[in-house]
Amino acid sequence: MANQPTSTDKAKIAIFISGGGTNMAAILYASRLPDAPYDVVLVASNMPDAGGLKLAELEGIPTYVHSHKGHSRSAQDAAMEQAAVQAGAQYLVLAGYMRILSEEFVRRWDGRILNIHPSLLPKYKGLDTHARAIEAGDSHAGASVHVVTAELDAGDVLAQAKVAIALGDTPESLSERVKLAEHQLYPRAVADYVSRGSDPDFLFAKLRGLALALPETHERESHGSPGFRVGTQKTGKYFAYFSDRHHGSEHIALLVKTSGMDELLNLVETQPETYYKPAFYGASGWVGVILNRADLDWDHIAEWLERSWRATAPARLTKLLDAADQF
Ligand code: GRF
Repeated sequence: MANQPTSTDKAKIAIFISGGGTNMAAILYASRLPDAPYDVVLVASNMPDAGGLKLAELEGIPTYVHSHKGHSRSAQDAAMEQAAVQAGAQYLVLAGYMRILSEEFVRRWDGRILNIHPSLLPKYKGLDTHARAIEAGDSHAGASVHVVTAELDAGDVLAQAKVAIALGDTPESLSERVKLAEHQLYPRAVADYVSRGSDPDFLFAKLRGLALALPETHERESHGSPGFRVGTQKTGKYFAYFSDRHHGSEHIALLVKTSGMDELLNLVETQPETYYKPAFYGASGWVGVILNRADLDWDHIAEWLERSWRATAPARLTKLLDAADQF
């Protein structure tokens, strides 16, 4: 089973390469700057002579090689995965890794594999990206960092860098400049991605999406915090609030209604890493569900939102939801 990220330590990443490994080097050196949120725990390759392996060794990073020749995709994936898990990796960062990962592999690491692709996605998926951009007469080429999903070069794009195409550029000359841009882009995109669990903007955006997906809801600020209400703009009632270290709390949290003080105190006492009693709101039975923690499960947050919504919504709306649940 893949290692899960923890909130306090630095994230542990394994980098998979097949070639020169200049992106790997950029990420590795960035990891050694003050405040970098990740450590490189392994550099692994399917090519025994990948240039990047030497550099990693020189820098004291554990390396692993498993040639794909004569192995099925699943055997190759299994070997690479085992090495990454043993090294304690929580994220896999593909940097010029020229093998397509199997669907099962990607599913097991859902949302925890990143890749860099040398084009401004969604343009030019696949190979020969620079030649295609030049051929098309594009003004810019570039690179994109994206989350790896089962479909090739199709996961969410996290960050992009644009590079102007010069008159007379060849794929080689363009690729050199795109790589310079990649070396700036990739370390930062990895850092942002592994840190997003403690980023209030990311957490709020995610929460907002879930809250506003419930029937007849809208957002309204309350005492300086964003809140979510159910019902009409005029008569609606709050069923959730977002609290970003409000009232002296260290937590970024969702505040939702419990059934009352007994349940609230019980949750806080038995699961203090997940729940706390918020200032002011706690007095009326609202619990704080901590969002900035490593084992956060968004399904659990969605359940709390729905429960609090049900406890607040007028009967005409809860009836609709009950009816939908029958199917
Ligand atoms: C980069 O251009 C990257 O966009 C692509 O493969 C190349 C890897 O280069 N996926 P390097 O091995 O990091 O030098």
